[in-house]
Amino acid sequence: MSDEPLGPFTWVDDADGTDDPATGDVATTPAPPVAGHAVVALEGISKTYATGAAEVHALRDVSLRIDRGEYVAVIGPSGSGKSTLMNILGCLDVATSGRYELDGVDVEDLSETDLAAVRNTRIGFVFQQFNLLSTLSAWRNVELPLVYAGVPRAERRERAHAALDRVGLAGRVDHRPSELSGGQQQRVAIARALVTDPALILADEPTGNLDSRSSEDVMALLDELHASGRTIVLITHDLEVAAAAERSVTVRDGVVLTAHDQQGEPVGAGA
Ligand SMILES: Nc1ncnc2c1ncn2[C@@H]1O[C@H](COP(=O)(O)OP(=O)(O)O)[C@@H](O)[C@H]1O
Ligand SMILES: [Mg+2]
Repeated sequence: MSDEPLGPFTWVDDADGTDDPATGDVATTPAPPVAGHAVVALEGISKTYATGAAEVHALRDVSLRIDRGEYVAVIGPSGSGKSTLMNILGCLDVATSGRYELDGVDVEDLSETDLAAVRNTRIGFVFQQFNLLSTLSAWRNVELPLVYAGVPRAERRERAHAALDRVGLAGRVDHRPSELSGGQQQRVAIARALVTDPALILADEPTGNLDSRSSEDVMALLDELHASGRTIVLITHDLEVAAAAERSVTVRDGVVLTAHDQQGEPVGAGA
């Protein structure tokens, strides 16, 4: 599976000139592309929320492997643990127990700072609400992850423009979110997710706020990204949307029930 870069992207291994893992340089260095390399490896992951007297076991002993270039949908009814799983996959929260290796990095022992660097450079997030800054133009929104990663200004501009070109918005780089349609705003968000050349694109109900035409548009773009070698995890309650993925994983009562090919029969999913 090829992992073609989506633009003239160069990794900055040494953003602050120190080449020192203590300053986060290690987090900006991508793991070498190895065939069959696991981008996500969860092993016996559990997450327990303590709420007053009661404990909620939101995830129970979840093991899941997602290889480079896979397109996986995570489905399940409300309250099943999808958001909890997404938060852990996205390094927005840490598990109560178990192991999580993201793109070869063991994340459960990282400090908050290192976790933030991993989140910023190895994961591209796409949210239901787009989460764009309304006062910034499209390209300024897209360059933000590169600002946090310490990429020099000229390179940021070039990479942000290339990413917007990639999602078909070359003619809208100076538009603010309010001057764009919902579908265009989500494409800006996808450009922002791509600009760091992340190991994983994590999309949480990316079509949840879009009309059917814009939804198709965004799903077609995700298909294209998958075809170009991107690794995508799509969280959705919409089975029609989930059908776009190669494989789906069902979460129910905190347990990953089944992993099956789109062509295969769901085993015990019932959803
Ligand atoms: N911060 C929290 N504190 C306590 N319980 C929570 C918290 N977040 C989620 N839960 C509980 O964990 C379970 C899984 O929730 P969640 O991961 O949000 O499911 P989903 O996204 O599939 O709807 C639910 O029972 C929910 O009430
Ligand atoms: Mg949820």
